[in-house]
Amino acid sequence: MRSADFTEDIVYQWQKKWSEYDLRQAVENCQEDTVGFPYFLKYLPKKGLILEAGCGLGQWVVYLSRLGYHMIGVEIVPDCVQMCKTHFPNVDVRVGDVRNLPFPDAYFDGYISIGVIEHMIEGPESILRELKRVIKPGGIAIITVPAYNYFLRAWYPLRKFIVEPFRKNHLIRKVLGKPALLYDKFDGQIKSIKIKKQLRAELWPIVGIDAVKGPIFIEYKYKKGYFDCLLESFDFKIIESVPVHHPLIFQDTFGNLFFKKSCLKNEKNNLQLNILGKIVKRIFDQVSPHFFNYLYLYVVKAKI
Ligand SMILES: C[S@@+](CC[C@H](N)C(=O)[O-])C[C@H]1O[C@@H](n2cnc3c(N)ncnc32)[C@H](O)[C@@H]1O
Repeated sequence: MRSADFTEDIVYQWQKKWSEYDLRQAVENCQEDTVGFPYFLKYLPKKGLILEAGCGLGQWVVYLSRLGYHMIGVEIVPDCVQMCKTHFPNVDVRVGDVRNLPFPDAYFDGYISIGVIEHMIEGPESILRELKRVIKPGGIAIITVPAYNYFLRAWYPLRKFIVEPFRKNHLIRKVLGKPALLYDKFDGQIKSIKIKKQLRAELWPIVGIDAVKGPIFIEYKYKKGYFDCLLESFDFKIIESVPVHHPLIFQDTFGNLFFKKSCLKNEKNNLQLNILGKIVKRIFDQVSPHFFNYLYLYVVKAKI
């Protein structure tokens, strides 16, 4: 029986994912990061305490501590915290839930949340409420959420209601000589994952199939307008809200169709678009920076 907030699924999927990664390499990669790092340098206060909520392997806690920031990391997967403590005993990482943080009110001057908010099946309010509680008035938070961009708003419904029924059809698969899908095994269970139906127009849920666990809620993608309003409703002033572009959005949407074959063979984090991919990207970029962006990055200030 699964708990209502699917906490054990979160621990399961992230423990599995992080076991494939190398923390030392992740720390080395931080200096080349173009998503969050420029904003960390621009906005995070050097004096004062900063929380990374949902710190994963803990690479940012390690790297920013080295640069002189006063960092604490909180992560729900105990193995990640243990590994970080083993390799970097002087770094402050703790096991905890970002929806129920073990810190007093108005404790932090800065807060980082990269790729975390979208994983709460009950929606983002519980995290934002806790962020609002632990941050000092005037404190800065840097947050990312996956974009339910213009392209995906057309593509996901099309895929769900037109492409998927064909792809999953037993007869069609038999005729094409394709093996049965994992979906078949778990079909009934998919419906047991209750997502926020009342918000369907504002966000899109992504549910994956794990070979052992069956259907697993992965994340929501958010419309920018909806997330802007949500932040404002928690009394945050938006200083910057940036559409972030990344090749992973091409992979999530089209598989490996638009990548150079050579980059897929060995390099995990170095996806390179092929000629077709570059053309498609150029067209998408011309339409709007919000047409096919991967994330939104927010820099917000807690109102005084
Ligand atoms: C996409 S990863 C991001 C990790 C890290 N922020 C980074 O940028 O590499 C999301 C992380 O959030 C953690 N997480 C998810 N829900 C959490 C919760 N309720 N409390 C604490 N951590 C959580 C996951 O275990 C995972 O390590």
